[in-house]
Amino acid sequence: MGHPLEALTAILRLAYSGELAAALAYRGHWKSVSDPDDRARIHRIEDEEWHHRELVGGMLARIGRSPSPARERRAWVMGRTLGLLCHVAGWLAPMYGAGKLERRNIKEYETAARLAARAGHPEFVECLLTMAEVEWDHEAYFRSRVLSHRLGRRLPLWPAPPPKSEIRTSFERETQPRAAA
Ligand SMILES: [Fe+2]
Ligand SMILES: [Fe+2]
Repeated sequence: MGHPLEALTAILRLAYSGELAAALAYRGHWKSVSDPDDRARIHRIEDEEWHHRELVGGMLARIGRSPSPARERRAWVMGRTLGLLCHVAGWLAPMYGAGKLERRNIKEYETAARLAARAGHPEFVECLLTMAEVEWDHEAYFRSRVLSHRLGRRLPLWPAPPPKSEIRTSFERETQPRAAA
């Protein structure tokens, strides 16, 4: 995987632009649903993705790296497109797509936390693990919404993440094997 700092930079750039795509897509998503609880929850998720983007941007700045302009452009187009599609895609497809994406985001921040520790930036770990936990909550919400749907219950779902507590226990197990034993 090369130098840990390079790997950390790559994953932070990916996450930074990923949050832009996600936030724009959720903006379209919450505006496309009519249930007030769904609207409020997805709106809050949008805000959380903007907050993540700010935090990840801060980390990139602290290691003296900038976001990838090409990735930023792609993320903007992707986010706007998905946001618009939510208005024509019906109720279930955006919920399903979001849940699947959030499952990946959990893993992405867990990996970033491990890379930060290896790259000599332990000060990022707490924040990255907390973001993984917030993505866990997002995944759980979208999963529950898909499962509330008659057709959604019959669809094969993406693999469920381990329990939320595993985000921290697995990190400790892998980075301080002796302390966890
Ligand atoms: Fe996020
Ligand atoms: Fe998320």
